[in-house]
Amino acid sequence: MASPRLLFVLSLVAFINGQVVKQTESAIEELEKYIQNKKPEINQRYRLHYHVAAPVGWINDPNGFSYYKGEYHLFYQFYPYDSVWGPMHWGHVTSPDLVNWKWLPTALIPGEEYCFSGSAVVADDTMVLIYTAHIDDGKHVNQSQYLAFSEDGVKFVKYEGNPVIPRSPNGSPDFRDPKAWRHGEYWYVIIGSKTDDGRGRVLLYRSSDLFDWEFLTVLGESDGKLGYMWECPDFFELDGKFVLLMSPQGIEPQGDRYKNLHQTGYIIGSFNYATFEFIPEVEFQELDYGHDFYAAQTTENDGRRYVVGWFNMWEAPHLEETDGWSGAMTIVREMELYENRILMKPVKDMASLREEEGYIAGDWMTNQDLSFDKTAEILFENSLDKNVELLLTGIDGGQKVWLRWSPTTKKVSVDRGNNDVRQVEWVPTENKSWRIFLDASTLELFCGEGEVVFSSRVYPDGGWKVTNLSNQTLNVETFKLKRSIPV
Ligand SMILES: *[C@@H]1O[C@H](CO)[C@@H](O)[C@H](O)[C@H]1NC(C)=O
Ligand SMILES: *[C@@H]1O[C@H](CO)[C@@H](O)[C@H](O)[C@H]1NC(C)=O
Ligand SMILES: *[C@@H]1O[C@H](CO)[C@@H](O)[C@H](O)[C@H]1NC(C)=O
Ligand SMILES: *[C@@H]1O[C@H](CO)[C@@H](O)[C@H](O)[C@H]1NC(C)=O
Repeated sequence: MASPRLLFVLSLVAFINGQVVKQTESAIEELEKYIQNKKPEINQRYRLHYHVAAPVGWINDPNGFSYYKGEYHLFYQFYPYDSVWGPMHWGHVTSPDLVNWKWLPTALIPGEEYCFSGSAVVADDTMVLIYTAHIDDGKHVNQSQYLAFSEDGVKFVKYEGNPVIPRSPNGSPDFRDPKAWRHGEYWYVIIGSKTDDGRGRVLLYRSSDLFDWEFLTVLGESDGKLGYMWECPDFFELDGKFVLLMSPQGIEPQGDRYKNLHQTGYIIGSFNYATFEFIPEVEFQELDYGHDFYAAQTTENDGRRYVVGWFNMWEAPHLEETDGWSGAMTIVREMELYENRILMKPVKDMASLREEEGYIAGDWMTNQDLSFDKTAEILFENSLDKNVELLLTGIDGGQKVWLRWSPTTKKVSVDRGNNDVRQVEWVPTENKSWRIFLDASTLELFCGEGEVVFSSRVYPDGGWKVTNLSNQTLNVETFKLKRSIPV
């Protein structure tokens, strides 16, 4: 009997010999021209220098995060024609190091279907996208799973036999965001959905060829307190445990927790490929405590697990909207399991963005504000016995944000004023440092080894101004960071 892998190759060749429907190349070329013509009209004030963001128009979820032919690929939900959500395309960037990014032509454009979120796998030398086709005929909404192929990682063709998974097992129209991976002889995919009585869940399927899928089991399900829909699931092994990462919608706020409209978090457990049973061992935890983090997706390469999230939140103000664009990705973080939680650290190569010019190190005096152009990295180690308080705003005003540590509550907080606070208890490992990344309209705070991470959009006018309001001397190091994505 031929191996599943070989069968896959044979069938793929058959599709490429005349059975596929091409997304027309001219439509993609025309869209590229539109994007290039539109870019100069964008107001640069909040444009990001080292974060992937909408080239023009709107972006949301990261998609198809993968490694193919020596490069990382990152796609994203994309509507080019306005800076608000619209019929979904897949935009595309690549990177050799997860830090420096290059723009590629739009990978998927909507046809009968809007091209909703999904993932990418590599089957022999072919990159295969599996994504949700969202079809709304005005009466019914239908979500099913489609495939598209690429031999060069640039041009994609949709499979003519789509859909490969036409409906959810219970007929729920919410059936989206397939995340596929390979294990042993099979491909697996998980898909976000809900129960008949409106509880979020994740479904597990298996296939030997990526075309015929068998429904296996419900991998995880809300008990009623974890939301009505689980979007953007991901599932992977991390340091000997299994992690179910997902973005539940509809969790009620509880104290400091779940204050964003929707959450992204994870359940740590064990999984058995013989029984397909995922046994949760640690309750759901948020992955990032900031105001703007959603729909995170991971990929693995060289034994490391990387994650990137959408650096916005649904129904939150995106001030860049009036500038001709909306939406960004966080910097890519490496994940690590530590006791009962995931630590997130900026990928190592982020240090390559540090400019020699403008480097400051030493004690930070009360009467000195630190000023930066659009970008900065700030590092310091503080005593946890005294409070820390930094005020960040624009040199010319604009939005303010306070970063605080309180030795009494043992909480770190990111406060955008007007009661718009996100805070969480921090129990540091040995490392008590803070590492802050500022871009023209973003703030990312990594505490210690990444026990606590906040991603929040902040909109300063002009460059950044940072004021020390602490009751202790902070020994700071600051860097200006280079641009890592072309204008
Ligand atoms: C959804 O649409 C697909 C075509 O994309 C079709 O094959 C499938 O039968 C539809 N499912 C339902 C429940 O209408
Ligand atoms: C920060 O300000 C406080 C009070 O204004 C002062 O006591 C402290 O020494 C300052 N820290 C640094 C690093 O200068
Ligand atoms: C603590 O973490 C910071 C930020 O990642 C790093 O620069 C520093 O070297 C670490 N310190 C120690 C003692 O490991
Ligand atoms: C700093 O210390 C002073 C005097 O002890 C105190 O009045 C003030 O509230 C402290 N500031 C903060 C931010 O805790």
